[in-house]
Amino acid sequence: MNADIRTRLEKGIVDAPGPEDREFSFSGEDYAFLRAMLKERTGIELGPTKHNMVYARLAKRLRRLGMQSFRQYIEFIGSDAGREELGATLNALTTNLTKFFRENHHFEHLAGQALQEIRARAATGGRRLRIWSAGCSSGEEPYSIAITLLRAMPDIKQWDARILATDIDTEMVRRGAEGVYNASALEGIPHEIASKYFEPHGPDKVRLCAEARALISFKYLNLIEPWPMKGPFDVIFCRNVVIYFDKDTQRTLFDRYANLLAPGGFLYIGHSENLFGITERFKLLGRNIHRKIA
Ligand SMILES: C[S@@+](CC[C@H](N)C(=O)[O-])C[C@H]1O[C@@H](n2cnc3c(N)ncnc32)[C@H](O)[C@@H]1O
Repeated sequence: MNADIRTRLEKGIVDAPGPEDREFSFSGEDYAFLRAMLKERTGIELGPTKHNMVYARLAKRLRRLGMQSFRQYIEFIGSDAGREELGATLNALTTNLTKFFRENHHFEHLAGQALQEIRARAATGGRRLRIWSAGCSSGEEPYSIAITLLRAMPDIKQWDARILATDIDTEMVRRGAEGVYNASALEGIPHEIASKYFEPHGPDKVRLCAEARALISFKYLNLIEPWPMKGPFDVIFCRNVVIYFDKDTQRTLFDRYANLLAPGGFLYIGHSENLFGITERFKLLGRNIHRKIA
């Protein structure tokens, strides 16, 4: 199969072959099981019609393991021997689409109003800065934060500044920590940023500069489980993550973010997300930019 079609299938953009042409048998019951398991373990709700996407994303796992059917695969991931494979199942079912400086107005706000207020507070409270990229995928978001800080804070070495970047997908966390990307990921990024903060890494790859990498800790974290961090965070980015969660899961999550944010701290959410009917602990300041008020 051509690589482009395979990618489009995995993203759910085009339909996989109908049941009659499938390499592995995949029943409605199998889909219902995987859908419920994903919801329980990650909070992600797939909706009733994503059979083809699930089939396309998991078929390669079955192929790799030499399995004959989804039933056999489901039995395997439920067994002790299949515990590691269960992690691969969850990794395959998360949607990781991201890019550098996605929704750039958030980074402009961070460099402007947010840092201005954080600096004003630091005059009495000490030069501590904590930012969390929750659902960081392969790292483009936390690296965009790091570059924003490096550009906006010439005195950053005099600060205790840290970025925490977390995701449930262990492969994404690994890739983020590595900080290596296809050179094509820099398309659309101003030359001045690309040349200063990225280094060539082999023929078609680039790597984030050491200064940006040193600001970030990449960790596995499931947002619907207990968190080890105590905070407070000055800023939380949780963008394009909760679109897959139901309202109750969102309510609990945003309440926990409010608990962990410093008074007046900022929360950035994705362009198609909102907090209406979810929480009143934030005030909307601008395009999906919120301030903690309670
Ligand atoms: C579409 S990406 C968004 C990446 C980035 N925040 C952005 O906006 O470009 C969503 C990320 O949320 C992660 N995710 C989904 N459910 C999660 C959970 N329960 N805990 C932690 N991360 C989760 C996925 O693995 C995925 O990498």
